[in-house]
Amino acid sequence: MILVIISMGLMFRFSVISLEEESIKAKTNNIITHAKALLKHMTDEYTDLNTLLDNDYRKNYIKDFSSEIDARILVVNREYKVLFDTNTSYEEKIIKNNEVDQSIDRNIHIGYYKINKKRVSSIAIPIIYKDAYKGSILIMSSLEGIYSNINTYIERLIVLASICVIITVVTGFIFVEKISSPLESITDSVKKIVFGRYNEEINEEGSDEIKVLTNSFKVLIEKFSQVDDQRKQFVSNVSHELRTPLTSIKLLSEALIEDENVDKETYREFLIDIDGEVDRLNSIIDDLLSLVNLEKKELELKLEKVNVRDLLFKTCVILSPLAEQKNIDIHFIKEAKTYSMLDKNKMMQCFINIVSNSIKYNKENGFINIYLSETKDTIKVVIEDSGIGIEEKDIPFIFDRFYRVDKARSKKIGGVGLGLSIVHQIIKLHQGDIKVESKIGEGTKFTIVIPKRLI
Ligand SMILES: Nc1ncnc2c1ncn2[C@@H]1O[C@H](COP(=O)(O)OP(=O)(O)OP(=O)(O)O)[C@@H](O)[C@H]1O
Ligand SMILES: [Mg+2]
Repeated sequence: MILVIISMGLMFRFSVISLEEESIKAKTNNIITHAKALLKHMTDEYTDLNTLLDNDYRKNYIKDFSSEIDARILVVNREYKVLFDTNTSYEEKIIKNNEVDQSIDRNIHIGYYKINKKRVSSIAIPIIYKDAYKGSILIMSSLEGIYSNINTYIERLIVLASICVIITVVTGFIFVEKISSPLESITDSVKKIVFGRYNEEINEEGSDEIKVLTNSFKVLIEKFSQVDDQRKQFVSNVSHELRTPLTSIKLLSEALIEDENVDKETYREFLIDIDGEVDRLNSIIDDLLSLVNLEKKELELKLEKVNVRDLLFKTCVILSPLAEQKNIDIHFIKEAKTYSMLDKNKMMQCFINIVSNSIKYNKENGFINIYLSETKDTIKVVIEDSGIGIEEKDIPFIFDRFYRVDKARSKKIGGVGLGLSIVHQIIKLHQGDIKVESKIGEGTKFTIVIPKRLI
């Protein structure tokens, strides 16, 4: 609005100045054109100025001309004596006038004055006869007519400008209202959301841009809400998983404290149980820490040239005691060495987690097949087992933290549901991909594909 008002003011000023200049110029030019005709009339029959003007017909001619152009006309000789004045008051007097003074140089001179607060133009036209300066015709013309026209023009402009300002102000307010009210409502909703009210509805009214903004906010809020839900879920899972062994420890130790006549054997048995629960707590915390570390954004892999075959072989060796407990056969099918730049420890942890699952969720006398193959750019590891299998509806969730398919059964087997989320993070960090196929009662197949990098 300020800009509109400023630019209108400038236009206003500029147009008034131009109008003033143009009108004065037009009037002056008109006077000069007429005066030149008068001059011709006078010099055509020139003898000398006095005789020339001693003629009523000529005086009347000048008077007519003066009323025609609405100006006072004086004829001044070389000595600045007024020989004729249409107002008669200056006749026979010596006058002092700048323009008349200057017109001795035989050029027309124009000046502008303010006399009694009224603007006038003073135009002196030299009378030249036979190449000699004889005197001047001085035309004094009022400019008040022009200024009164300009005043009317200004008045009209003011009315027009006021209408424009009113329209600008009104439309300005409407627009501001239209833009700011949806923005205010978005701000209000965002404030509420900051305090955790994620189901707060955002008003969708407003222009297209506002709608785009609102939608972006909605997406953001949904994401926030998901993250917040995940966080709550995670905290509750962690607390729950930590509480279970702690409750056991508490119960076992209380039993020992309360019963004064515990025999040494029971003592030992209880302490072994407590020790087992402490181990479980430790392993949960270890898993949690490694998961948190893997999720750190700035985490860098310690890449080194690793022989994947050796890594898988080592995994089998480490886990073979566990497999023997259930009499599970592990077949590792790949002879040739396969090298790639990998984070050795993390990859090892990944394989151990998958193969230990294959043992844990396998049947007695079952088997595990591990295949290693490579293409020009990728390495593929397939780990399949003859275990209990995973139902199709559970497959999408097995990589989630703390997700366990069958809580009751899994409890007997042990574990908290972090193994596969760790696997997922590690594969993601290596820019690889992991897929699961499974059939209930028949077995599960994990397929890992990671890009092969040699430098
Ligand atoms: N090879 C498999 N066969 C059948 N079910 C499996 C297999 N691997 C994983 N699962 C299912 O997926 C769930 C998640 O596995 P994950 O390794 O993340 O957790 P966990 O083995 O229960 O505990 P953790 O590995 O943290 O000790 C398991 O609880 C199990 O139900
Ligand atoms: Mg596991």
